[in-house]
Amino acid sequence: MRTSQIAPPPRLLMGPGPISADPRVLRAMSASLLGQFDPAMTALMTETQGLYREVFRTRNEATLLIDGTSRAGIEAVLVSLLEPGDKVLVPIFGRFGHLLVEIAERCGAEVHTLETEWGQVFPASAIEDAVRTVRPKLLAVVQGDTSTTMNQPLEELGAIAAKHGALLYTDATASLGGNDLYVDEWRIDAATAGLQKCLAGPSGSSPLTLSDRAVEVIGARRHVEAGIADGTAGRGTRIRSNYFDLAMILDYWGEQRLNHHTEATSMLYAARECASLLVEEGMDAAVARHRLHGAAMAAGIEGLGLTLFGDQTHRMHNVLAVTIPDGIDADAARAAMLDDFGIEIGTSFGPLHGKVWRIGTMGYNARRDAVLLTLAALEQVLRAGGVDVVTGGGVGAAREHYEGAGEGASDGAGQVGAAGQEGAADGAAAAVAGAAR
Ligand SMILES: Cc1ncc(COP(=O)(O)O)c(C=O)c1O
Repeated sequence: MRTSQIAPPPRLLMGPGPISADPRVLRAMSASLLGQFDPAMTALMTETQGLYREVFRTRNEATLLIDGTSRAGIEAVLVSLLEPGDKVLVPIFGRFGHLLVEIAERCGAEVHTLETEWGQVFPASAIEDAVRTVRPKLLAVVQGDTSTTMNQPLEELGAIAAKHGALLYTDATASLGGNDLYVDEWRIDAATAGLQKCLAGPSGSSPLTLSDRAVEVIGARRHVEAGIADGTAGRGTRIRSNYFDLAMILDYWGEQRLNHHTEATSMLYAARECASLLVEEGMDAAVARHRLHGAAMAAGIEGLGLTLFGDQTHRMHNVLAVTIPDGIDADAARAAMLDDFGIEIGTSFGPLHGKVWRIGTMGYNARRDAVLLTLAALEQVLRAGGVDVVTGGGVGAAREHYEGAGEGASDGAGQVGAAGQEGAADGAAAAVAGAAR
């Protein structure tokens, strides 16, 4: 059989993630491999830890990568913190809250939940009431739930958890880099992420950070594999997973470099490059860039005459959900975006399936040209599907948004403030309201 090198078709990935990786990240992944204990390799690991401290805005020594997709980071935190019978409280506002419940149940925890309608978030007071009643060991909450596009405010939750003797964990897979996250300032004990959203990389590595309090809890369960035991193990219940045993993984990333798995070298390179891109840009500038392009996409969607789903004051900057217009075949429209334009937009899950499409503007694709191309293609696809859209309304409103936000021909995202953008969005919507159909 003749084989040749793979040649995936060119795509612009504008769904809820994965997104098109930054070429710099892809180049880093093709760098030559190093041995596990080569000083160049351990130096890279240490450098990557430092970069992720900046990304997570933390001084936590315990900041490292889990090999695996974002779900691996989540599972590592939950299985390492939760012993069978421990109480955990999960506020659920979308699919990924349910995932936290599912994983915590597998850890044998006693899981308590709090639910709100998809498209909404929780007021801190509702979470505090539940914490007061349940008295959990762990409060586990998603920051940005891609299934609904909502961004749960976390600012007050760390203090609430600490006041009631709980630890706070957040899944920041979808939000990190595109929305504010201050791990130390907000007193978050554990946070995990992935590369395939605002970090502009491929999926396959999960950056994670743990507070000293969390490390202490995990350290009490420290065991060392028989083959490399040194008599220093802890006495707590053994963590139920070997691969995701954070006590062992901390030893591996710590000064001891006590062997655990074989670090996924090319993913380490990718993760290092993703963090480096953000740190070079500046975290505030990266968040502002996502805010700018997300708002331009939202203005364009409304400019076409479509409706955004959910509480827009709590939407993540980097992904929106648009109500699928009546009469169009939703799957055929997504297929036409892909086949005719090479642009991927997202479907949706659970109660939103068939009701909304999800469109992302994140990482490498939080760019003006990506936003304008997607809106132009969407207009054509909708029109072909029989939807009465505003002619030129999408691109027009997005361009007006950029101009109103003070953005020139290039990105220039760093200088843009939120208030200016909101005003511009209103102006853009008004400007297209009377446009021809
Ligand atoms: C908020 C959130 N958590 C977890 C995940 C799971 O990530 P992965 O598929 O990388 O394991 C996703 C994926 O979209 C997500 O958006």
